[in-house]
Amino acid sequence: MWKDWVRPFIRPLPQWSTVAVAPGQQVVTATLHGDGKSMDVTEDHTVASLVPLMIATSLDAGQRPVLQYRESATGKLLGVLRLTRSASVTTEKATITLYYVTAGEHHCLGQPLRAWSTRLQNRVMLKNRAPHHFSPEPAAVQQLMIAYLCPRPTILVSVAAPGHQNIFPMDLIGPLERSGLFSLALRSTSISVPIMRETRKVALSSIPATMKAVVYKLAEQHKHPLADWNALPFPVRPSREFGITVPASALRIQELDIVHSQEVGSHTLFIGRIVSEENLAEGTQLHHTAGFHQAYRRRKGVPFAEV
Ligand SMILES: Cc1cc2nc3c(=O)[nH]c(=O)nc-3n(C[C@H](O)[C@H](O)[C@H](O)COP(=O)(O)O)c2cc1C
Repeated sequence: MWKDWVRPFIRPLPQWSTVAVAPGQQVVTATLHGDGKSMDVTEDHTVASLVPLMIATSLDAGQRPVLQYRESATGKLLGVLRLTRSASVTTEKATITLYYVTAGEHHCLGQPLRAWSTRLQNRVMLKNRAPHHFSPEPAAVQQLMIAYLCPRPTILVSVAAPGHQNIFPMDLIGPLERSGLFSLALRSTSISVPIMRETRKVALSSIPATMKAVVYKLAEQHKHPLADWNALPFPVRPSREFGITVPASALRIQELDIVHSQEVGSHTLFIGRIVSEENLAEGTQLHHTAGFHQAYRRRKGVPFAEV
């Protein structure tokens, strides 16, 4: 439609698009190129910190690898992140490598629209910047959007300890496939960070796309613990092994045994092992992708279903 072409010239594209995607669909493939090798990291990389922007993977791809995102169906290059090796995190059995994101570019829009659209988006970010509030630099947000070319699932994380219970959304999460580990990057200001470090147990609920509104509302739990599980606006049940309260309507419940945690930039990186998995229902799951990715797919006539 002509409007899809004209609109991005007038109004900035949304940074994020909230979309309904079936679990396990690999619409975009991520490969890490470094040290003369290239390896599929679609299920083996995750964001570890927002300030500075850092990526964790169980591969050591040398000093300056390049992360490429390609459309799985066509092989088209959608985006690139340039990385510089930082530190390693060693857990009991595996080593995770952390990389700074030093540069990035996407190819979802042709020039000059790409540069114009970035300018419009950055202008809005700078205008809406609240003093004393957490807000990464526009260039880092643009790079973060590239990391979201692989649509990222949103989950609800449940935490329970005597005197503290909480449930909040996270999407800086994911498997680090080769190590068999799973990571969560939670801002160190979250009131649940010390509890998670102590209890070393959380329940992760994959959420149907239809629950978007309630999931966003739960972001408030960043600063306030939940007064009572019964106050939640949806039915709940206990998780299988840990007995932590989770939404009854979750598509899948996983229980995570946390084996390591450490501060990485603005976030605390929790690394753990999935110790149980209950697949409860079929259906599309709440995901986020970059607004320019959705614009690209819309132009091709294959947009993600937006929620
Ligand atoms: C869909 C969604 C996903 C989120 N994922 C994360 C996450 O992975 N890590 C994190 O630290 N916070 C995550 N948040 C929480 C928000 O960043 C947090 O609640 C928000 O920043 C409010 O805190 P603030 O007022 O201190 O900024 C997420 C929030 C939403 C709505």
